[in-house]
Amino acid sequence: MTNPISFSTRTLNMKGSSTLKAALAATRLREKGVDVIDLTVGEPDFDTPQFIKNYAIEGLEKGFTKYTPSAGLTIFKDSIADHYGRQYGASITPAQIAASCGGKQGLFNAVAALVNEGDEVLLPKPYWVTFPELVNFCGGTNVFIETEETDFVLTSEQVREAITQKTKLLIINSPSNPSGRVVPSDEMRKIFDLCGENGVYVITDECYLLFVYPPSEVFTAASLPPEYLDFICVSGSFSKTYAMTGWRIGYTITNEAWTKQMVKLQSHSATHPTSFVQYACAKAMQNDEESFAEVGAMLDEYKKRRDWFVPALNEIEGISCALPEGAFYAFIDVRPHLGERYKTSDDFGQALLEKSAVVTTDGAGFGAEGFIRLSYANSMENLERAVEKIREFVVD
Ligand SMILES: Cc1ncc(COP(=O)(O)O)c(C=O)c1O
Repeated sequence: MTNPISFSTRTLNMKGSSTLKAALAATRLREKGVDVIDLTVGEPDFDTPQFIKNYAIEGLEKGFTKYTPSAGLTIFKDSIADHYGRQYGASITPAQIAASCGGKQGLFNAVAALVNEGDEVLLPKPYWVTFPELVNFCGGTNVFIETEETDFVLTSEQVREAITQKTKLLIINSPSNPSGRVVPSDEMRKIFDLCGENGVYVITDECYLLFVYPPSEVFTAASLPPEYLDFICVSGSFSKTYAMTGWRIGYTITNEAWTKQMVKLQSHSATHPTSFVQYACAKAMQNDEESFAEVGAMLDEYKKRRDWFVPALNEIEGISCALPEGAFYAFIDVRPHLGERYKTSDDFGQALLEKSAVVTTDGAGFGAEGFIRLSYANSMENLERAVEKIREFVVD
């Protein structure tokens, strides 16, 4: 065929994922035999806990191999509702829950069900790369909120200043990818109250819900009085917390009306996440003891790495990094190194890749030019080698 394909404007306008681009660069070098230190990884370096794998096998053997309702299996929704009730004091009903293929599909459903052409959507910077693309795809207008003066921790004051007559939605993500920063629960509540008063809906992406390092505390919007879910949609995921990125399972929790629209949309796309995966997650949610033991062990390990990695990065000339209270990313400021030699943080990252084979993710894709994201979902040995290489690179 000689004619170029006339693709849809919506898709053409979508930017490719910068996180995936960085990961691809690492793969290419590795294929050439280079000993790469890959700090782009956006997933746990642990395997899925064995007890969850066993539940998946049990699900298969019990015959959970057919279509399920688009909103998910009853056992899945019941188990999530009960788990949130027991653990967070939430009073949610199964009709407020919908299963999705990872948190990402739940987020897509939530945005697509709500946003019309011209609606303004507030996105605090730095944002997760997918958020602005989802909004663009749905015809909304991204309105970015600068948060650098509060070290990337969103405040209700910043939200207040950004709200206009056209604001339809705020998308918030705490703990944050890429900064690892956590908005304290009292400030979160102020933000929610403000949005409620101004008729602004909120999607709160709780993908890293349990990856919070003490003394910061785990907080889910689902634990608020039930009326908050009239305008808030919680996006949950098993990917990171239970090291299940490849299983593609997540869920949303919100009011019944929003859930209904999302389920309708999902019924015409993915239909539902894999049946026996839903079963496995339902059983895991019933088994709080094993679930929390597994998550606790991973969290201890991430904390150990963070407590070494972040101070070590801060000792490197011209590099600074606020302490992440959650997730598994360090978001370093490299602006003192920018100028003649490296004009942008992307130039800095590319040079680091070429000279030292350390692969990182540029901050510009998260709306924070001058910053670089380093994932510490990696072995201590690799983190130590990475710090040494970055130190050598900046003095060179
Ligand atoms: C902030 C954030 N939200 C959502 C997701 C989506 O994860 P999944 O679709 O695997 O649940 C990710 C994955 O990287 C993420 O970092």
